[in-house]
Amino acid sequence: MRPLSAKPILFLIIKWFSDVVFAHGNTERCCKELSSSLHVATPGSQHYDTHLNTYFSLDQGRMQPACVVFPSDASQVSTAVSVASHHACRFAVKSGGHMAWIGASNIGADGFAIDLENINTLTISDKGDSVALGSGLRWKDVYDYLEPLNLTTVGGRMSGVGVGGFILGGGISFLSYRHGFASSNVINFEVVLSSGEIVNANSTSHPSLYWALKLSSTNFGIVTQFTMSTFPMNNVFGGAQVFAIEESQALVLSLVQSTASLNKNPDQSLGLLLTWSAAVQRYVVWAPRIQVDTSSVPPPLTSASPLLDTLRITKLSDIFTEWSGEESSIRGYNEWLTLTIKIDSQLPLDIFVKGQALFGPFIERAGYHWGFAVQPLSRRMIRESMDRNGGNPSSLSPNEDLFVLLFVSSWTDPADGEEMRTVIRQLASWSQQEAIERDLLEDFVYMNYASGVQDALMRSIGPENLSRMLDIQKQYDPGNVFGTLWSGGFKLRDPTVDVADTRRDISEL
Ligand SMILES: Cc1cc2nc3c(=O)[nH]c(=O)nc-3n(C[C@H](O)[C@H](O)[C@H](O)COP(=O)(O)OP(=O)(O)OC[C@H]3O[C@@H](n4cnc5c(N)ncnc54)[C@H](O)[C@@H]3O)c2cc1C
Ligand SMILES: *[C@@H]1O[C@H](CO)[C@@H](O)[C@H](O)[C@H]1NC(C)=O
Ligand SMILES: *[C@@H]1O[C@H](CO)[C@@H](O)[C@H](O)[C@H]1NC(C)=O
Ligand SMILES: *[C@@H]1O[C@H](CO)[C@@H](O)[C@H](O)[C@H]1NC(C)=O
Repeated sequence: MRPLSAKPILFLIIKWFSDVVFAHGNTERCCKELSSSLHVATPGSQHYDTHLNTYFSLDQGRMQPACVVFPSDASQVSTAVSVASHHACRFAVKSGGHMAWIGASNIGADGFAIDLENINTLTISDKGDSVALGSGLRWKDVYDYLEPLNLTTVGGRMSGVGVGGFILGGGISFLSYRHGFASSNVINFEVVLSSGEIVNANSTSHPSLYWALKLSSTNFGIVTQFTMSTFPMNNVFGGAQVFAIEESQALVLSLVQSTASLNKNPDQSLGLLLTWSAAVQRYVVWAPRIQVDTSSVPPPLTSASPLLDTLRITKLSDIFTEWSGEESSIRGYNEWLTLTIKIDSQLPLDIFVKGQALFGPFIERAGYHWGFAVQPLSRRMIRESMDRNGGNPSSLSPNEDLFVLLFVSSWTDPADGEEMRTVIRQLASWSQQEAIERDLLEDFVYMNYASGVQDALMRSIGPENLSRMLDIQKQYDPGNVFGTLWSGGFKLRDPTVDVADTRRDISEL
């Protein structure tokens, strides 16, 4: 055995020390320099604490960035990017703060956070056919603005979700079965590049960047404004029904049939959440529903009567307010995971039974919650997403109807985290294995529902489009500034270059 040389060890210690000290030193320098021209909140201030409270997940809200920057327009975002790049400071970017995993849109003391909440202007076009949205808005702000104009856009279904993250991950909307992903309805992105330059990416200006941004996460730029197509909207028929868990078989079968019908009648939206209800201490099925046409009552999902029924003709904003009540029941520490499968009526039921068994020993404890949601990705929705505005980078093809499966878990005592994370990951991993064995698994991993341990962006793009994405990235960020300094989201990676990668396939969990 060779004697251990002290030299490399000493070198490693010095390197470790300098990495730690200089990373922090840099961050302090960035915070200081930024505070001379931008609004910056530092630990201990009230604004800093309010910022941490705006994250959906406590995992994110507990991270303590060295400072938080609140730019109010694109040029201030550009300043933040330039300062970060100049001093090599790490940073994270937050719009609505709803991505559930730790570090998705926040950062620890070795970096600073950029909170876009003050980038919040809304401007309807003269003709009313499009609306320009500041990237720090939440969907509630957007609907409150558009509803009095009898207009809407392809936005989120929970009003606290942010415009920014939702769109850059694709965005499944109540209007998606007619109009495709939210990102397919963006006609212009105003975006700050790694150089600090502010450009418009649209079908005629920077068209390749425009294409990439439609499924891009944190790889190409910080978007400051999204211009989206608007659509006429009046009252809708909608709300939610809650059924006894014994109805799940009939309901999943009904969802399979309704998904097929979404291809013919796309002006509706539906899904199922099989979930533990702490309020009633049992499992129930929550079935949210919207039908744009109010002239007819939609057919019932099952012949059983619901335990609770809020379906009515009303304004969309009423429905979103009602659904947002659900959000508060799942606030806490979170682990979300997702898979996409070919449409099937048996696998979702088997997954739920497996989940009940896994969570059985402790689900009744206070603060615990888990649920399993099934949402259609109809062929028509995929086709619309491909046909509109030049398509997007995803590998989805409109040959088959799909289900997006979402596994959610939450808890309020951090000490329960290890157990809960282990179990929900076990369930997702078991489900993935079953989906493979039953020949139902799709490559696509819906980024907005994925956990940080899932390689969501890389899995959602086929090899051809991946190399196109990598070329665009090289063109717009030749120094890989965003790859090295921008922490969070789902990163693009050159699979031919072997680098240490901490993201894993959930089957390896
Ligand atoms: C209660 C709840 C309901 C939900 N409902 C839906 C739904 O109906 N449909 C659906 O598709 N998804 C839904 N989601 C998932 C949601 O779309 C994602 O969590 C989404 O990423 C949230 O966006 P955000 O801006 O709030 O999040 P953030 O955490 O602020 O951002 C998410 C990611 O996007 C990046 N990012 C944000 N803004 C920008 C920007 N302007 N430029 C560049 N990068 C940016 C962040 O850095 C981060 O990596 C829901 C989530 C929750 C918690
Ligand atoms: C919106 O629609 C309602 C009901 O149809 C109508 O009364 C109202 O005038 C419309 N508002 C606008 C701004 O067009
Ligand atoms: C596309 O970008 C160009 C260049 O900035 C701009 O003039 C044009 O208005 C943009 N188009 C849209 C639809 O926003
Ligand atoms: C690549 O992107 C194009 C254009 O958005 C899309 O139509 C196509 O389906 C994608 N190709 C593959 C193989 O995923």
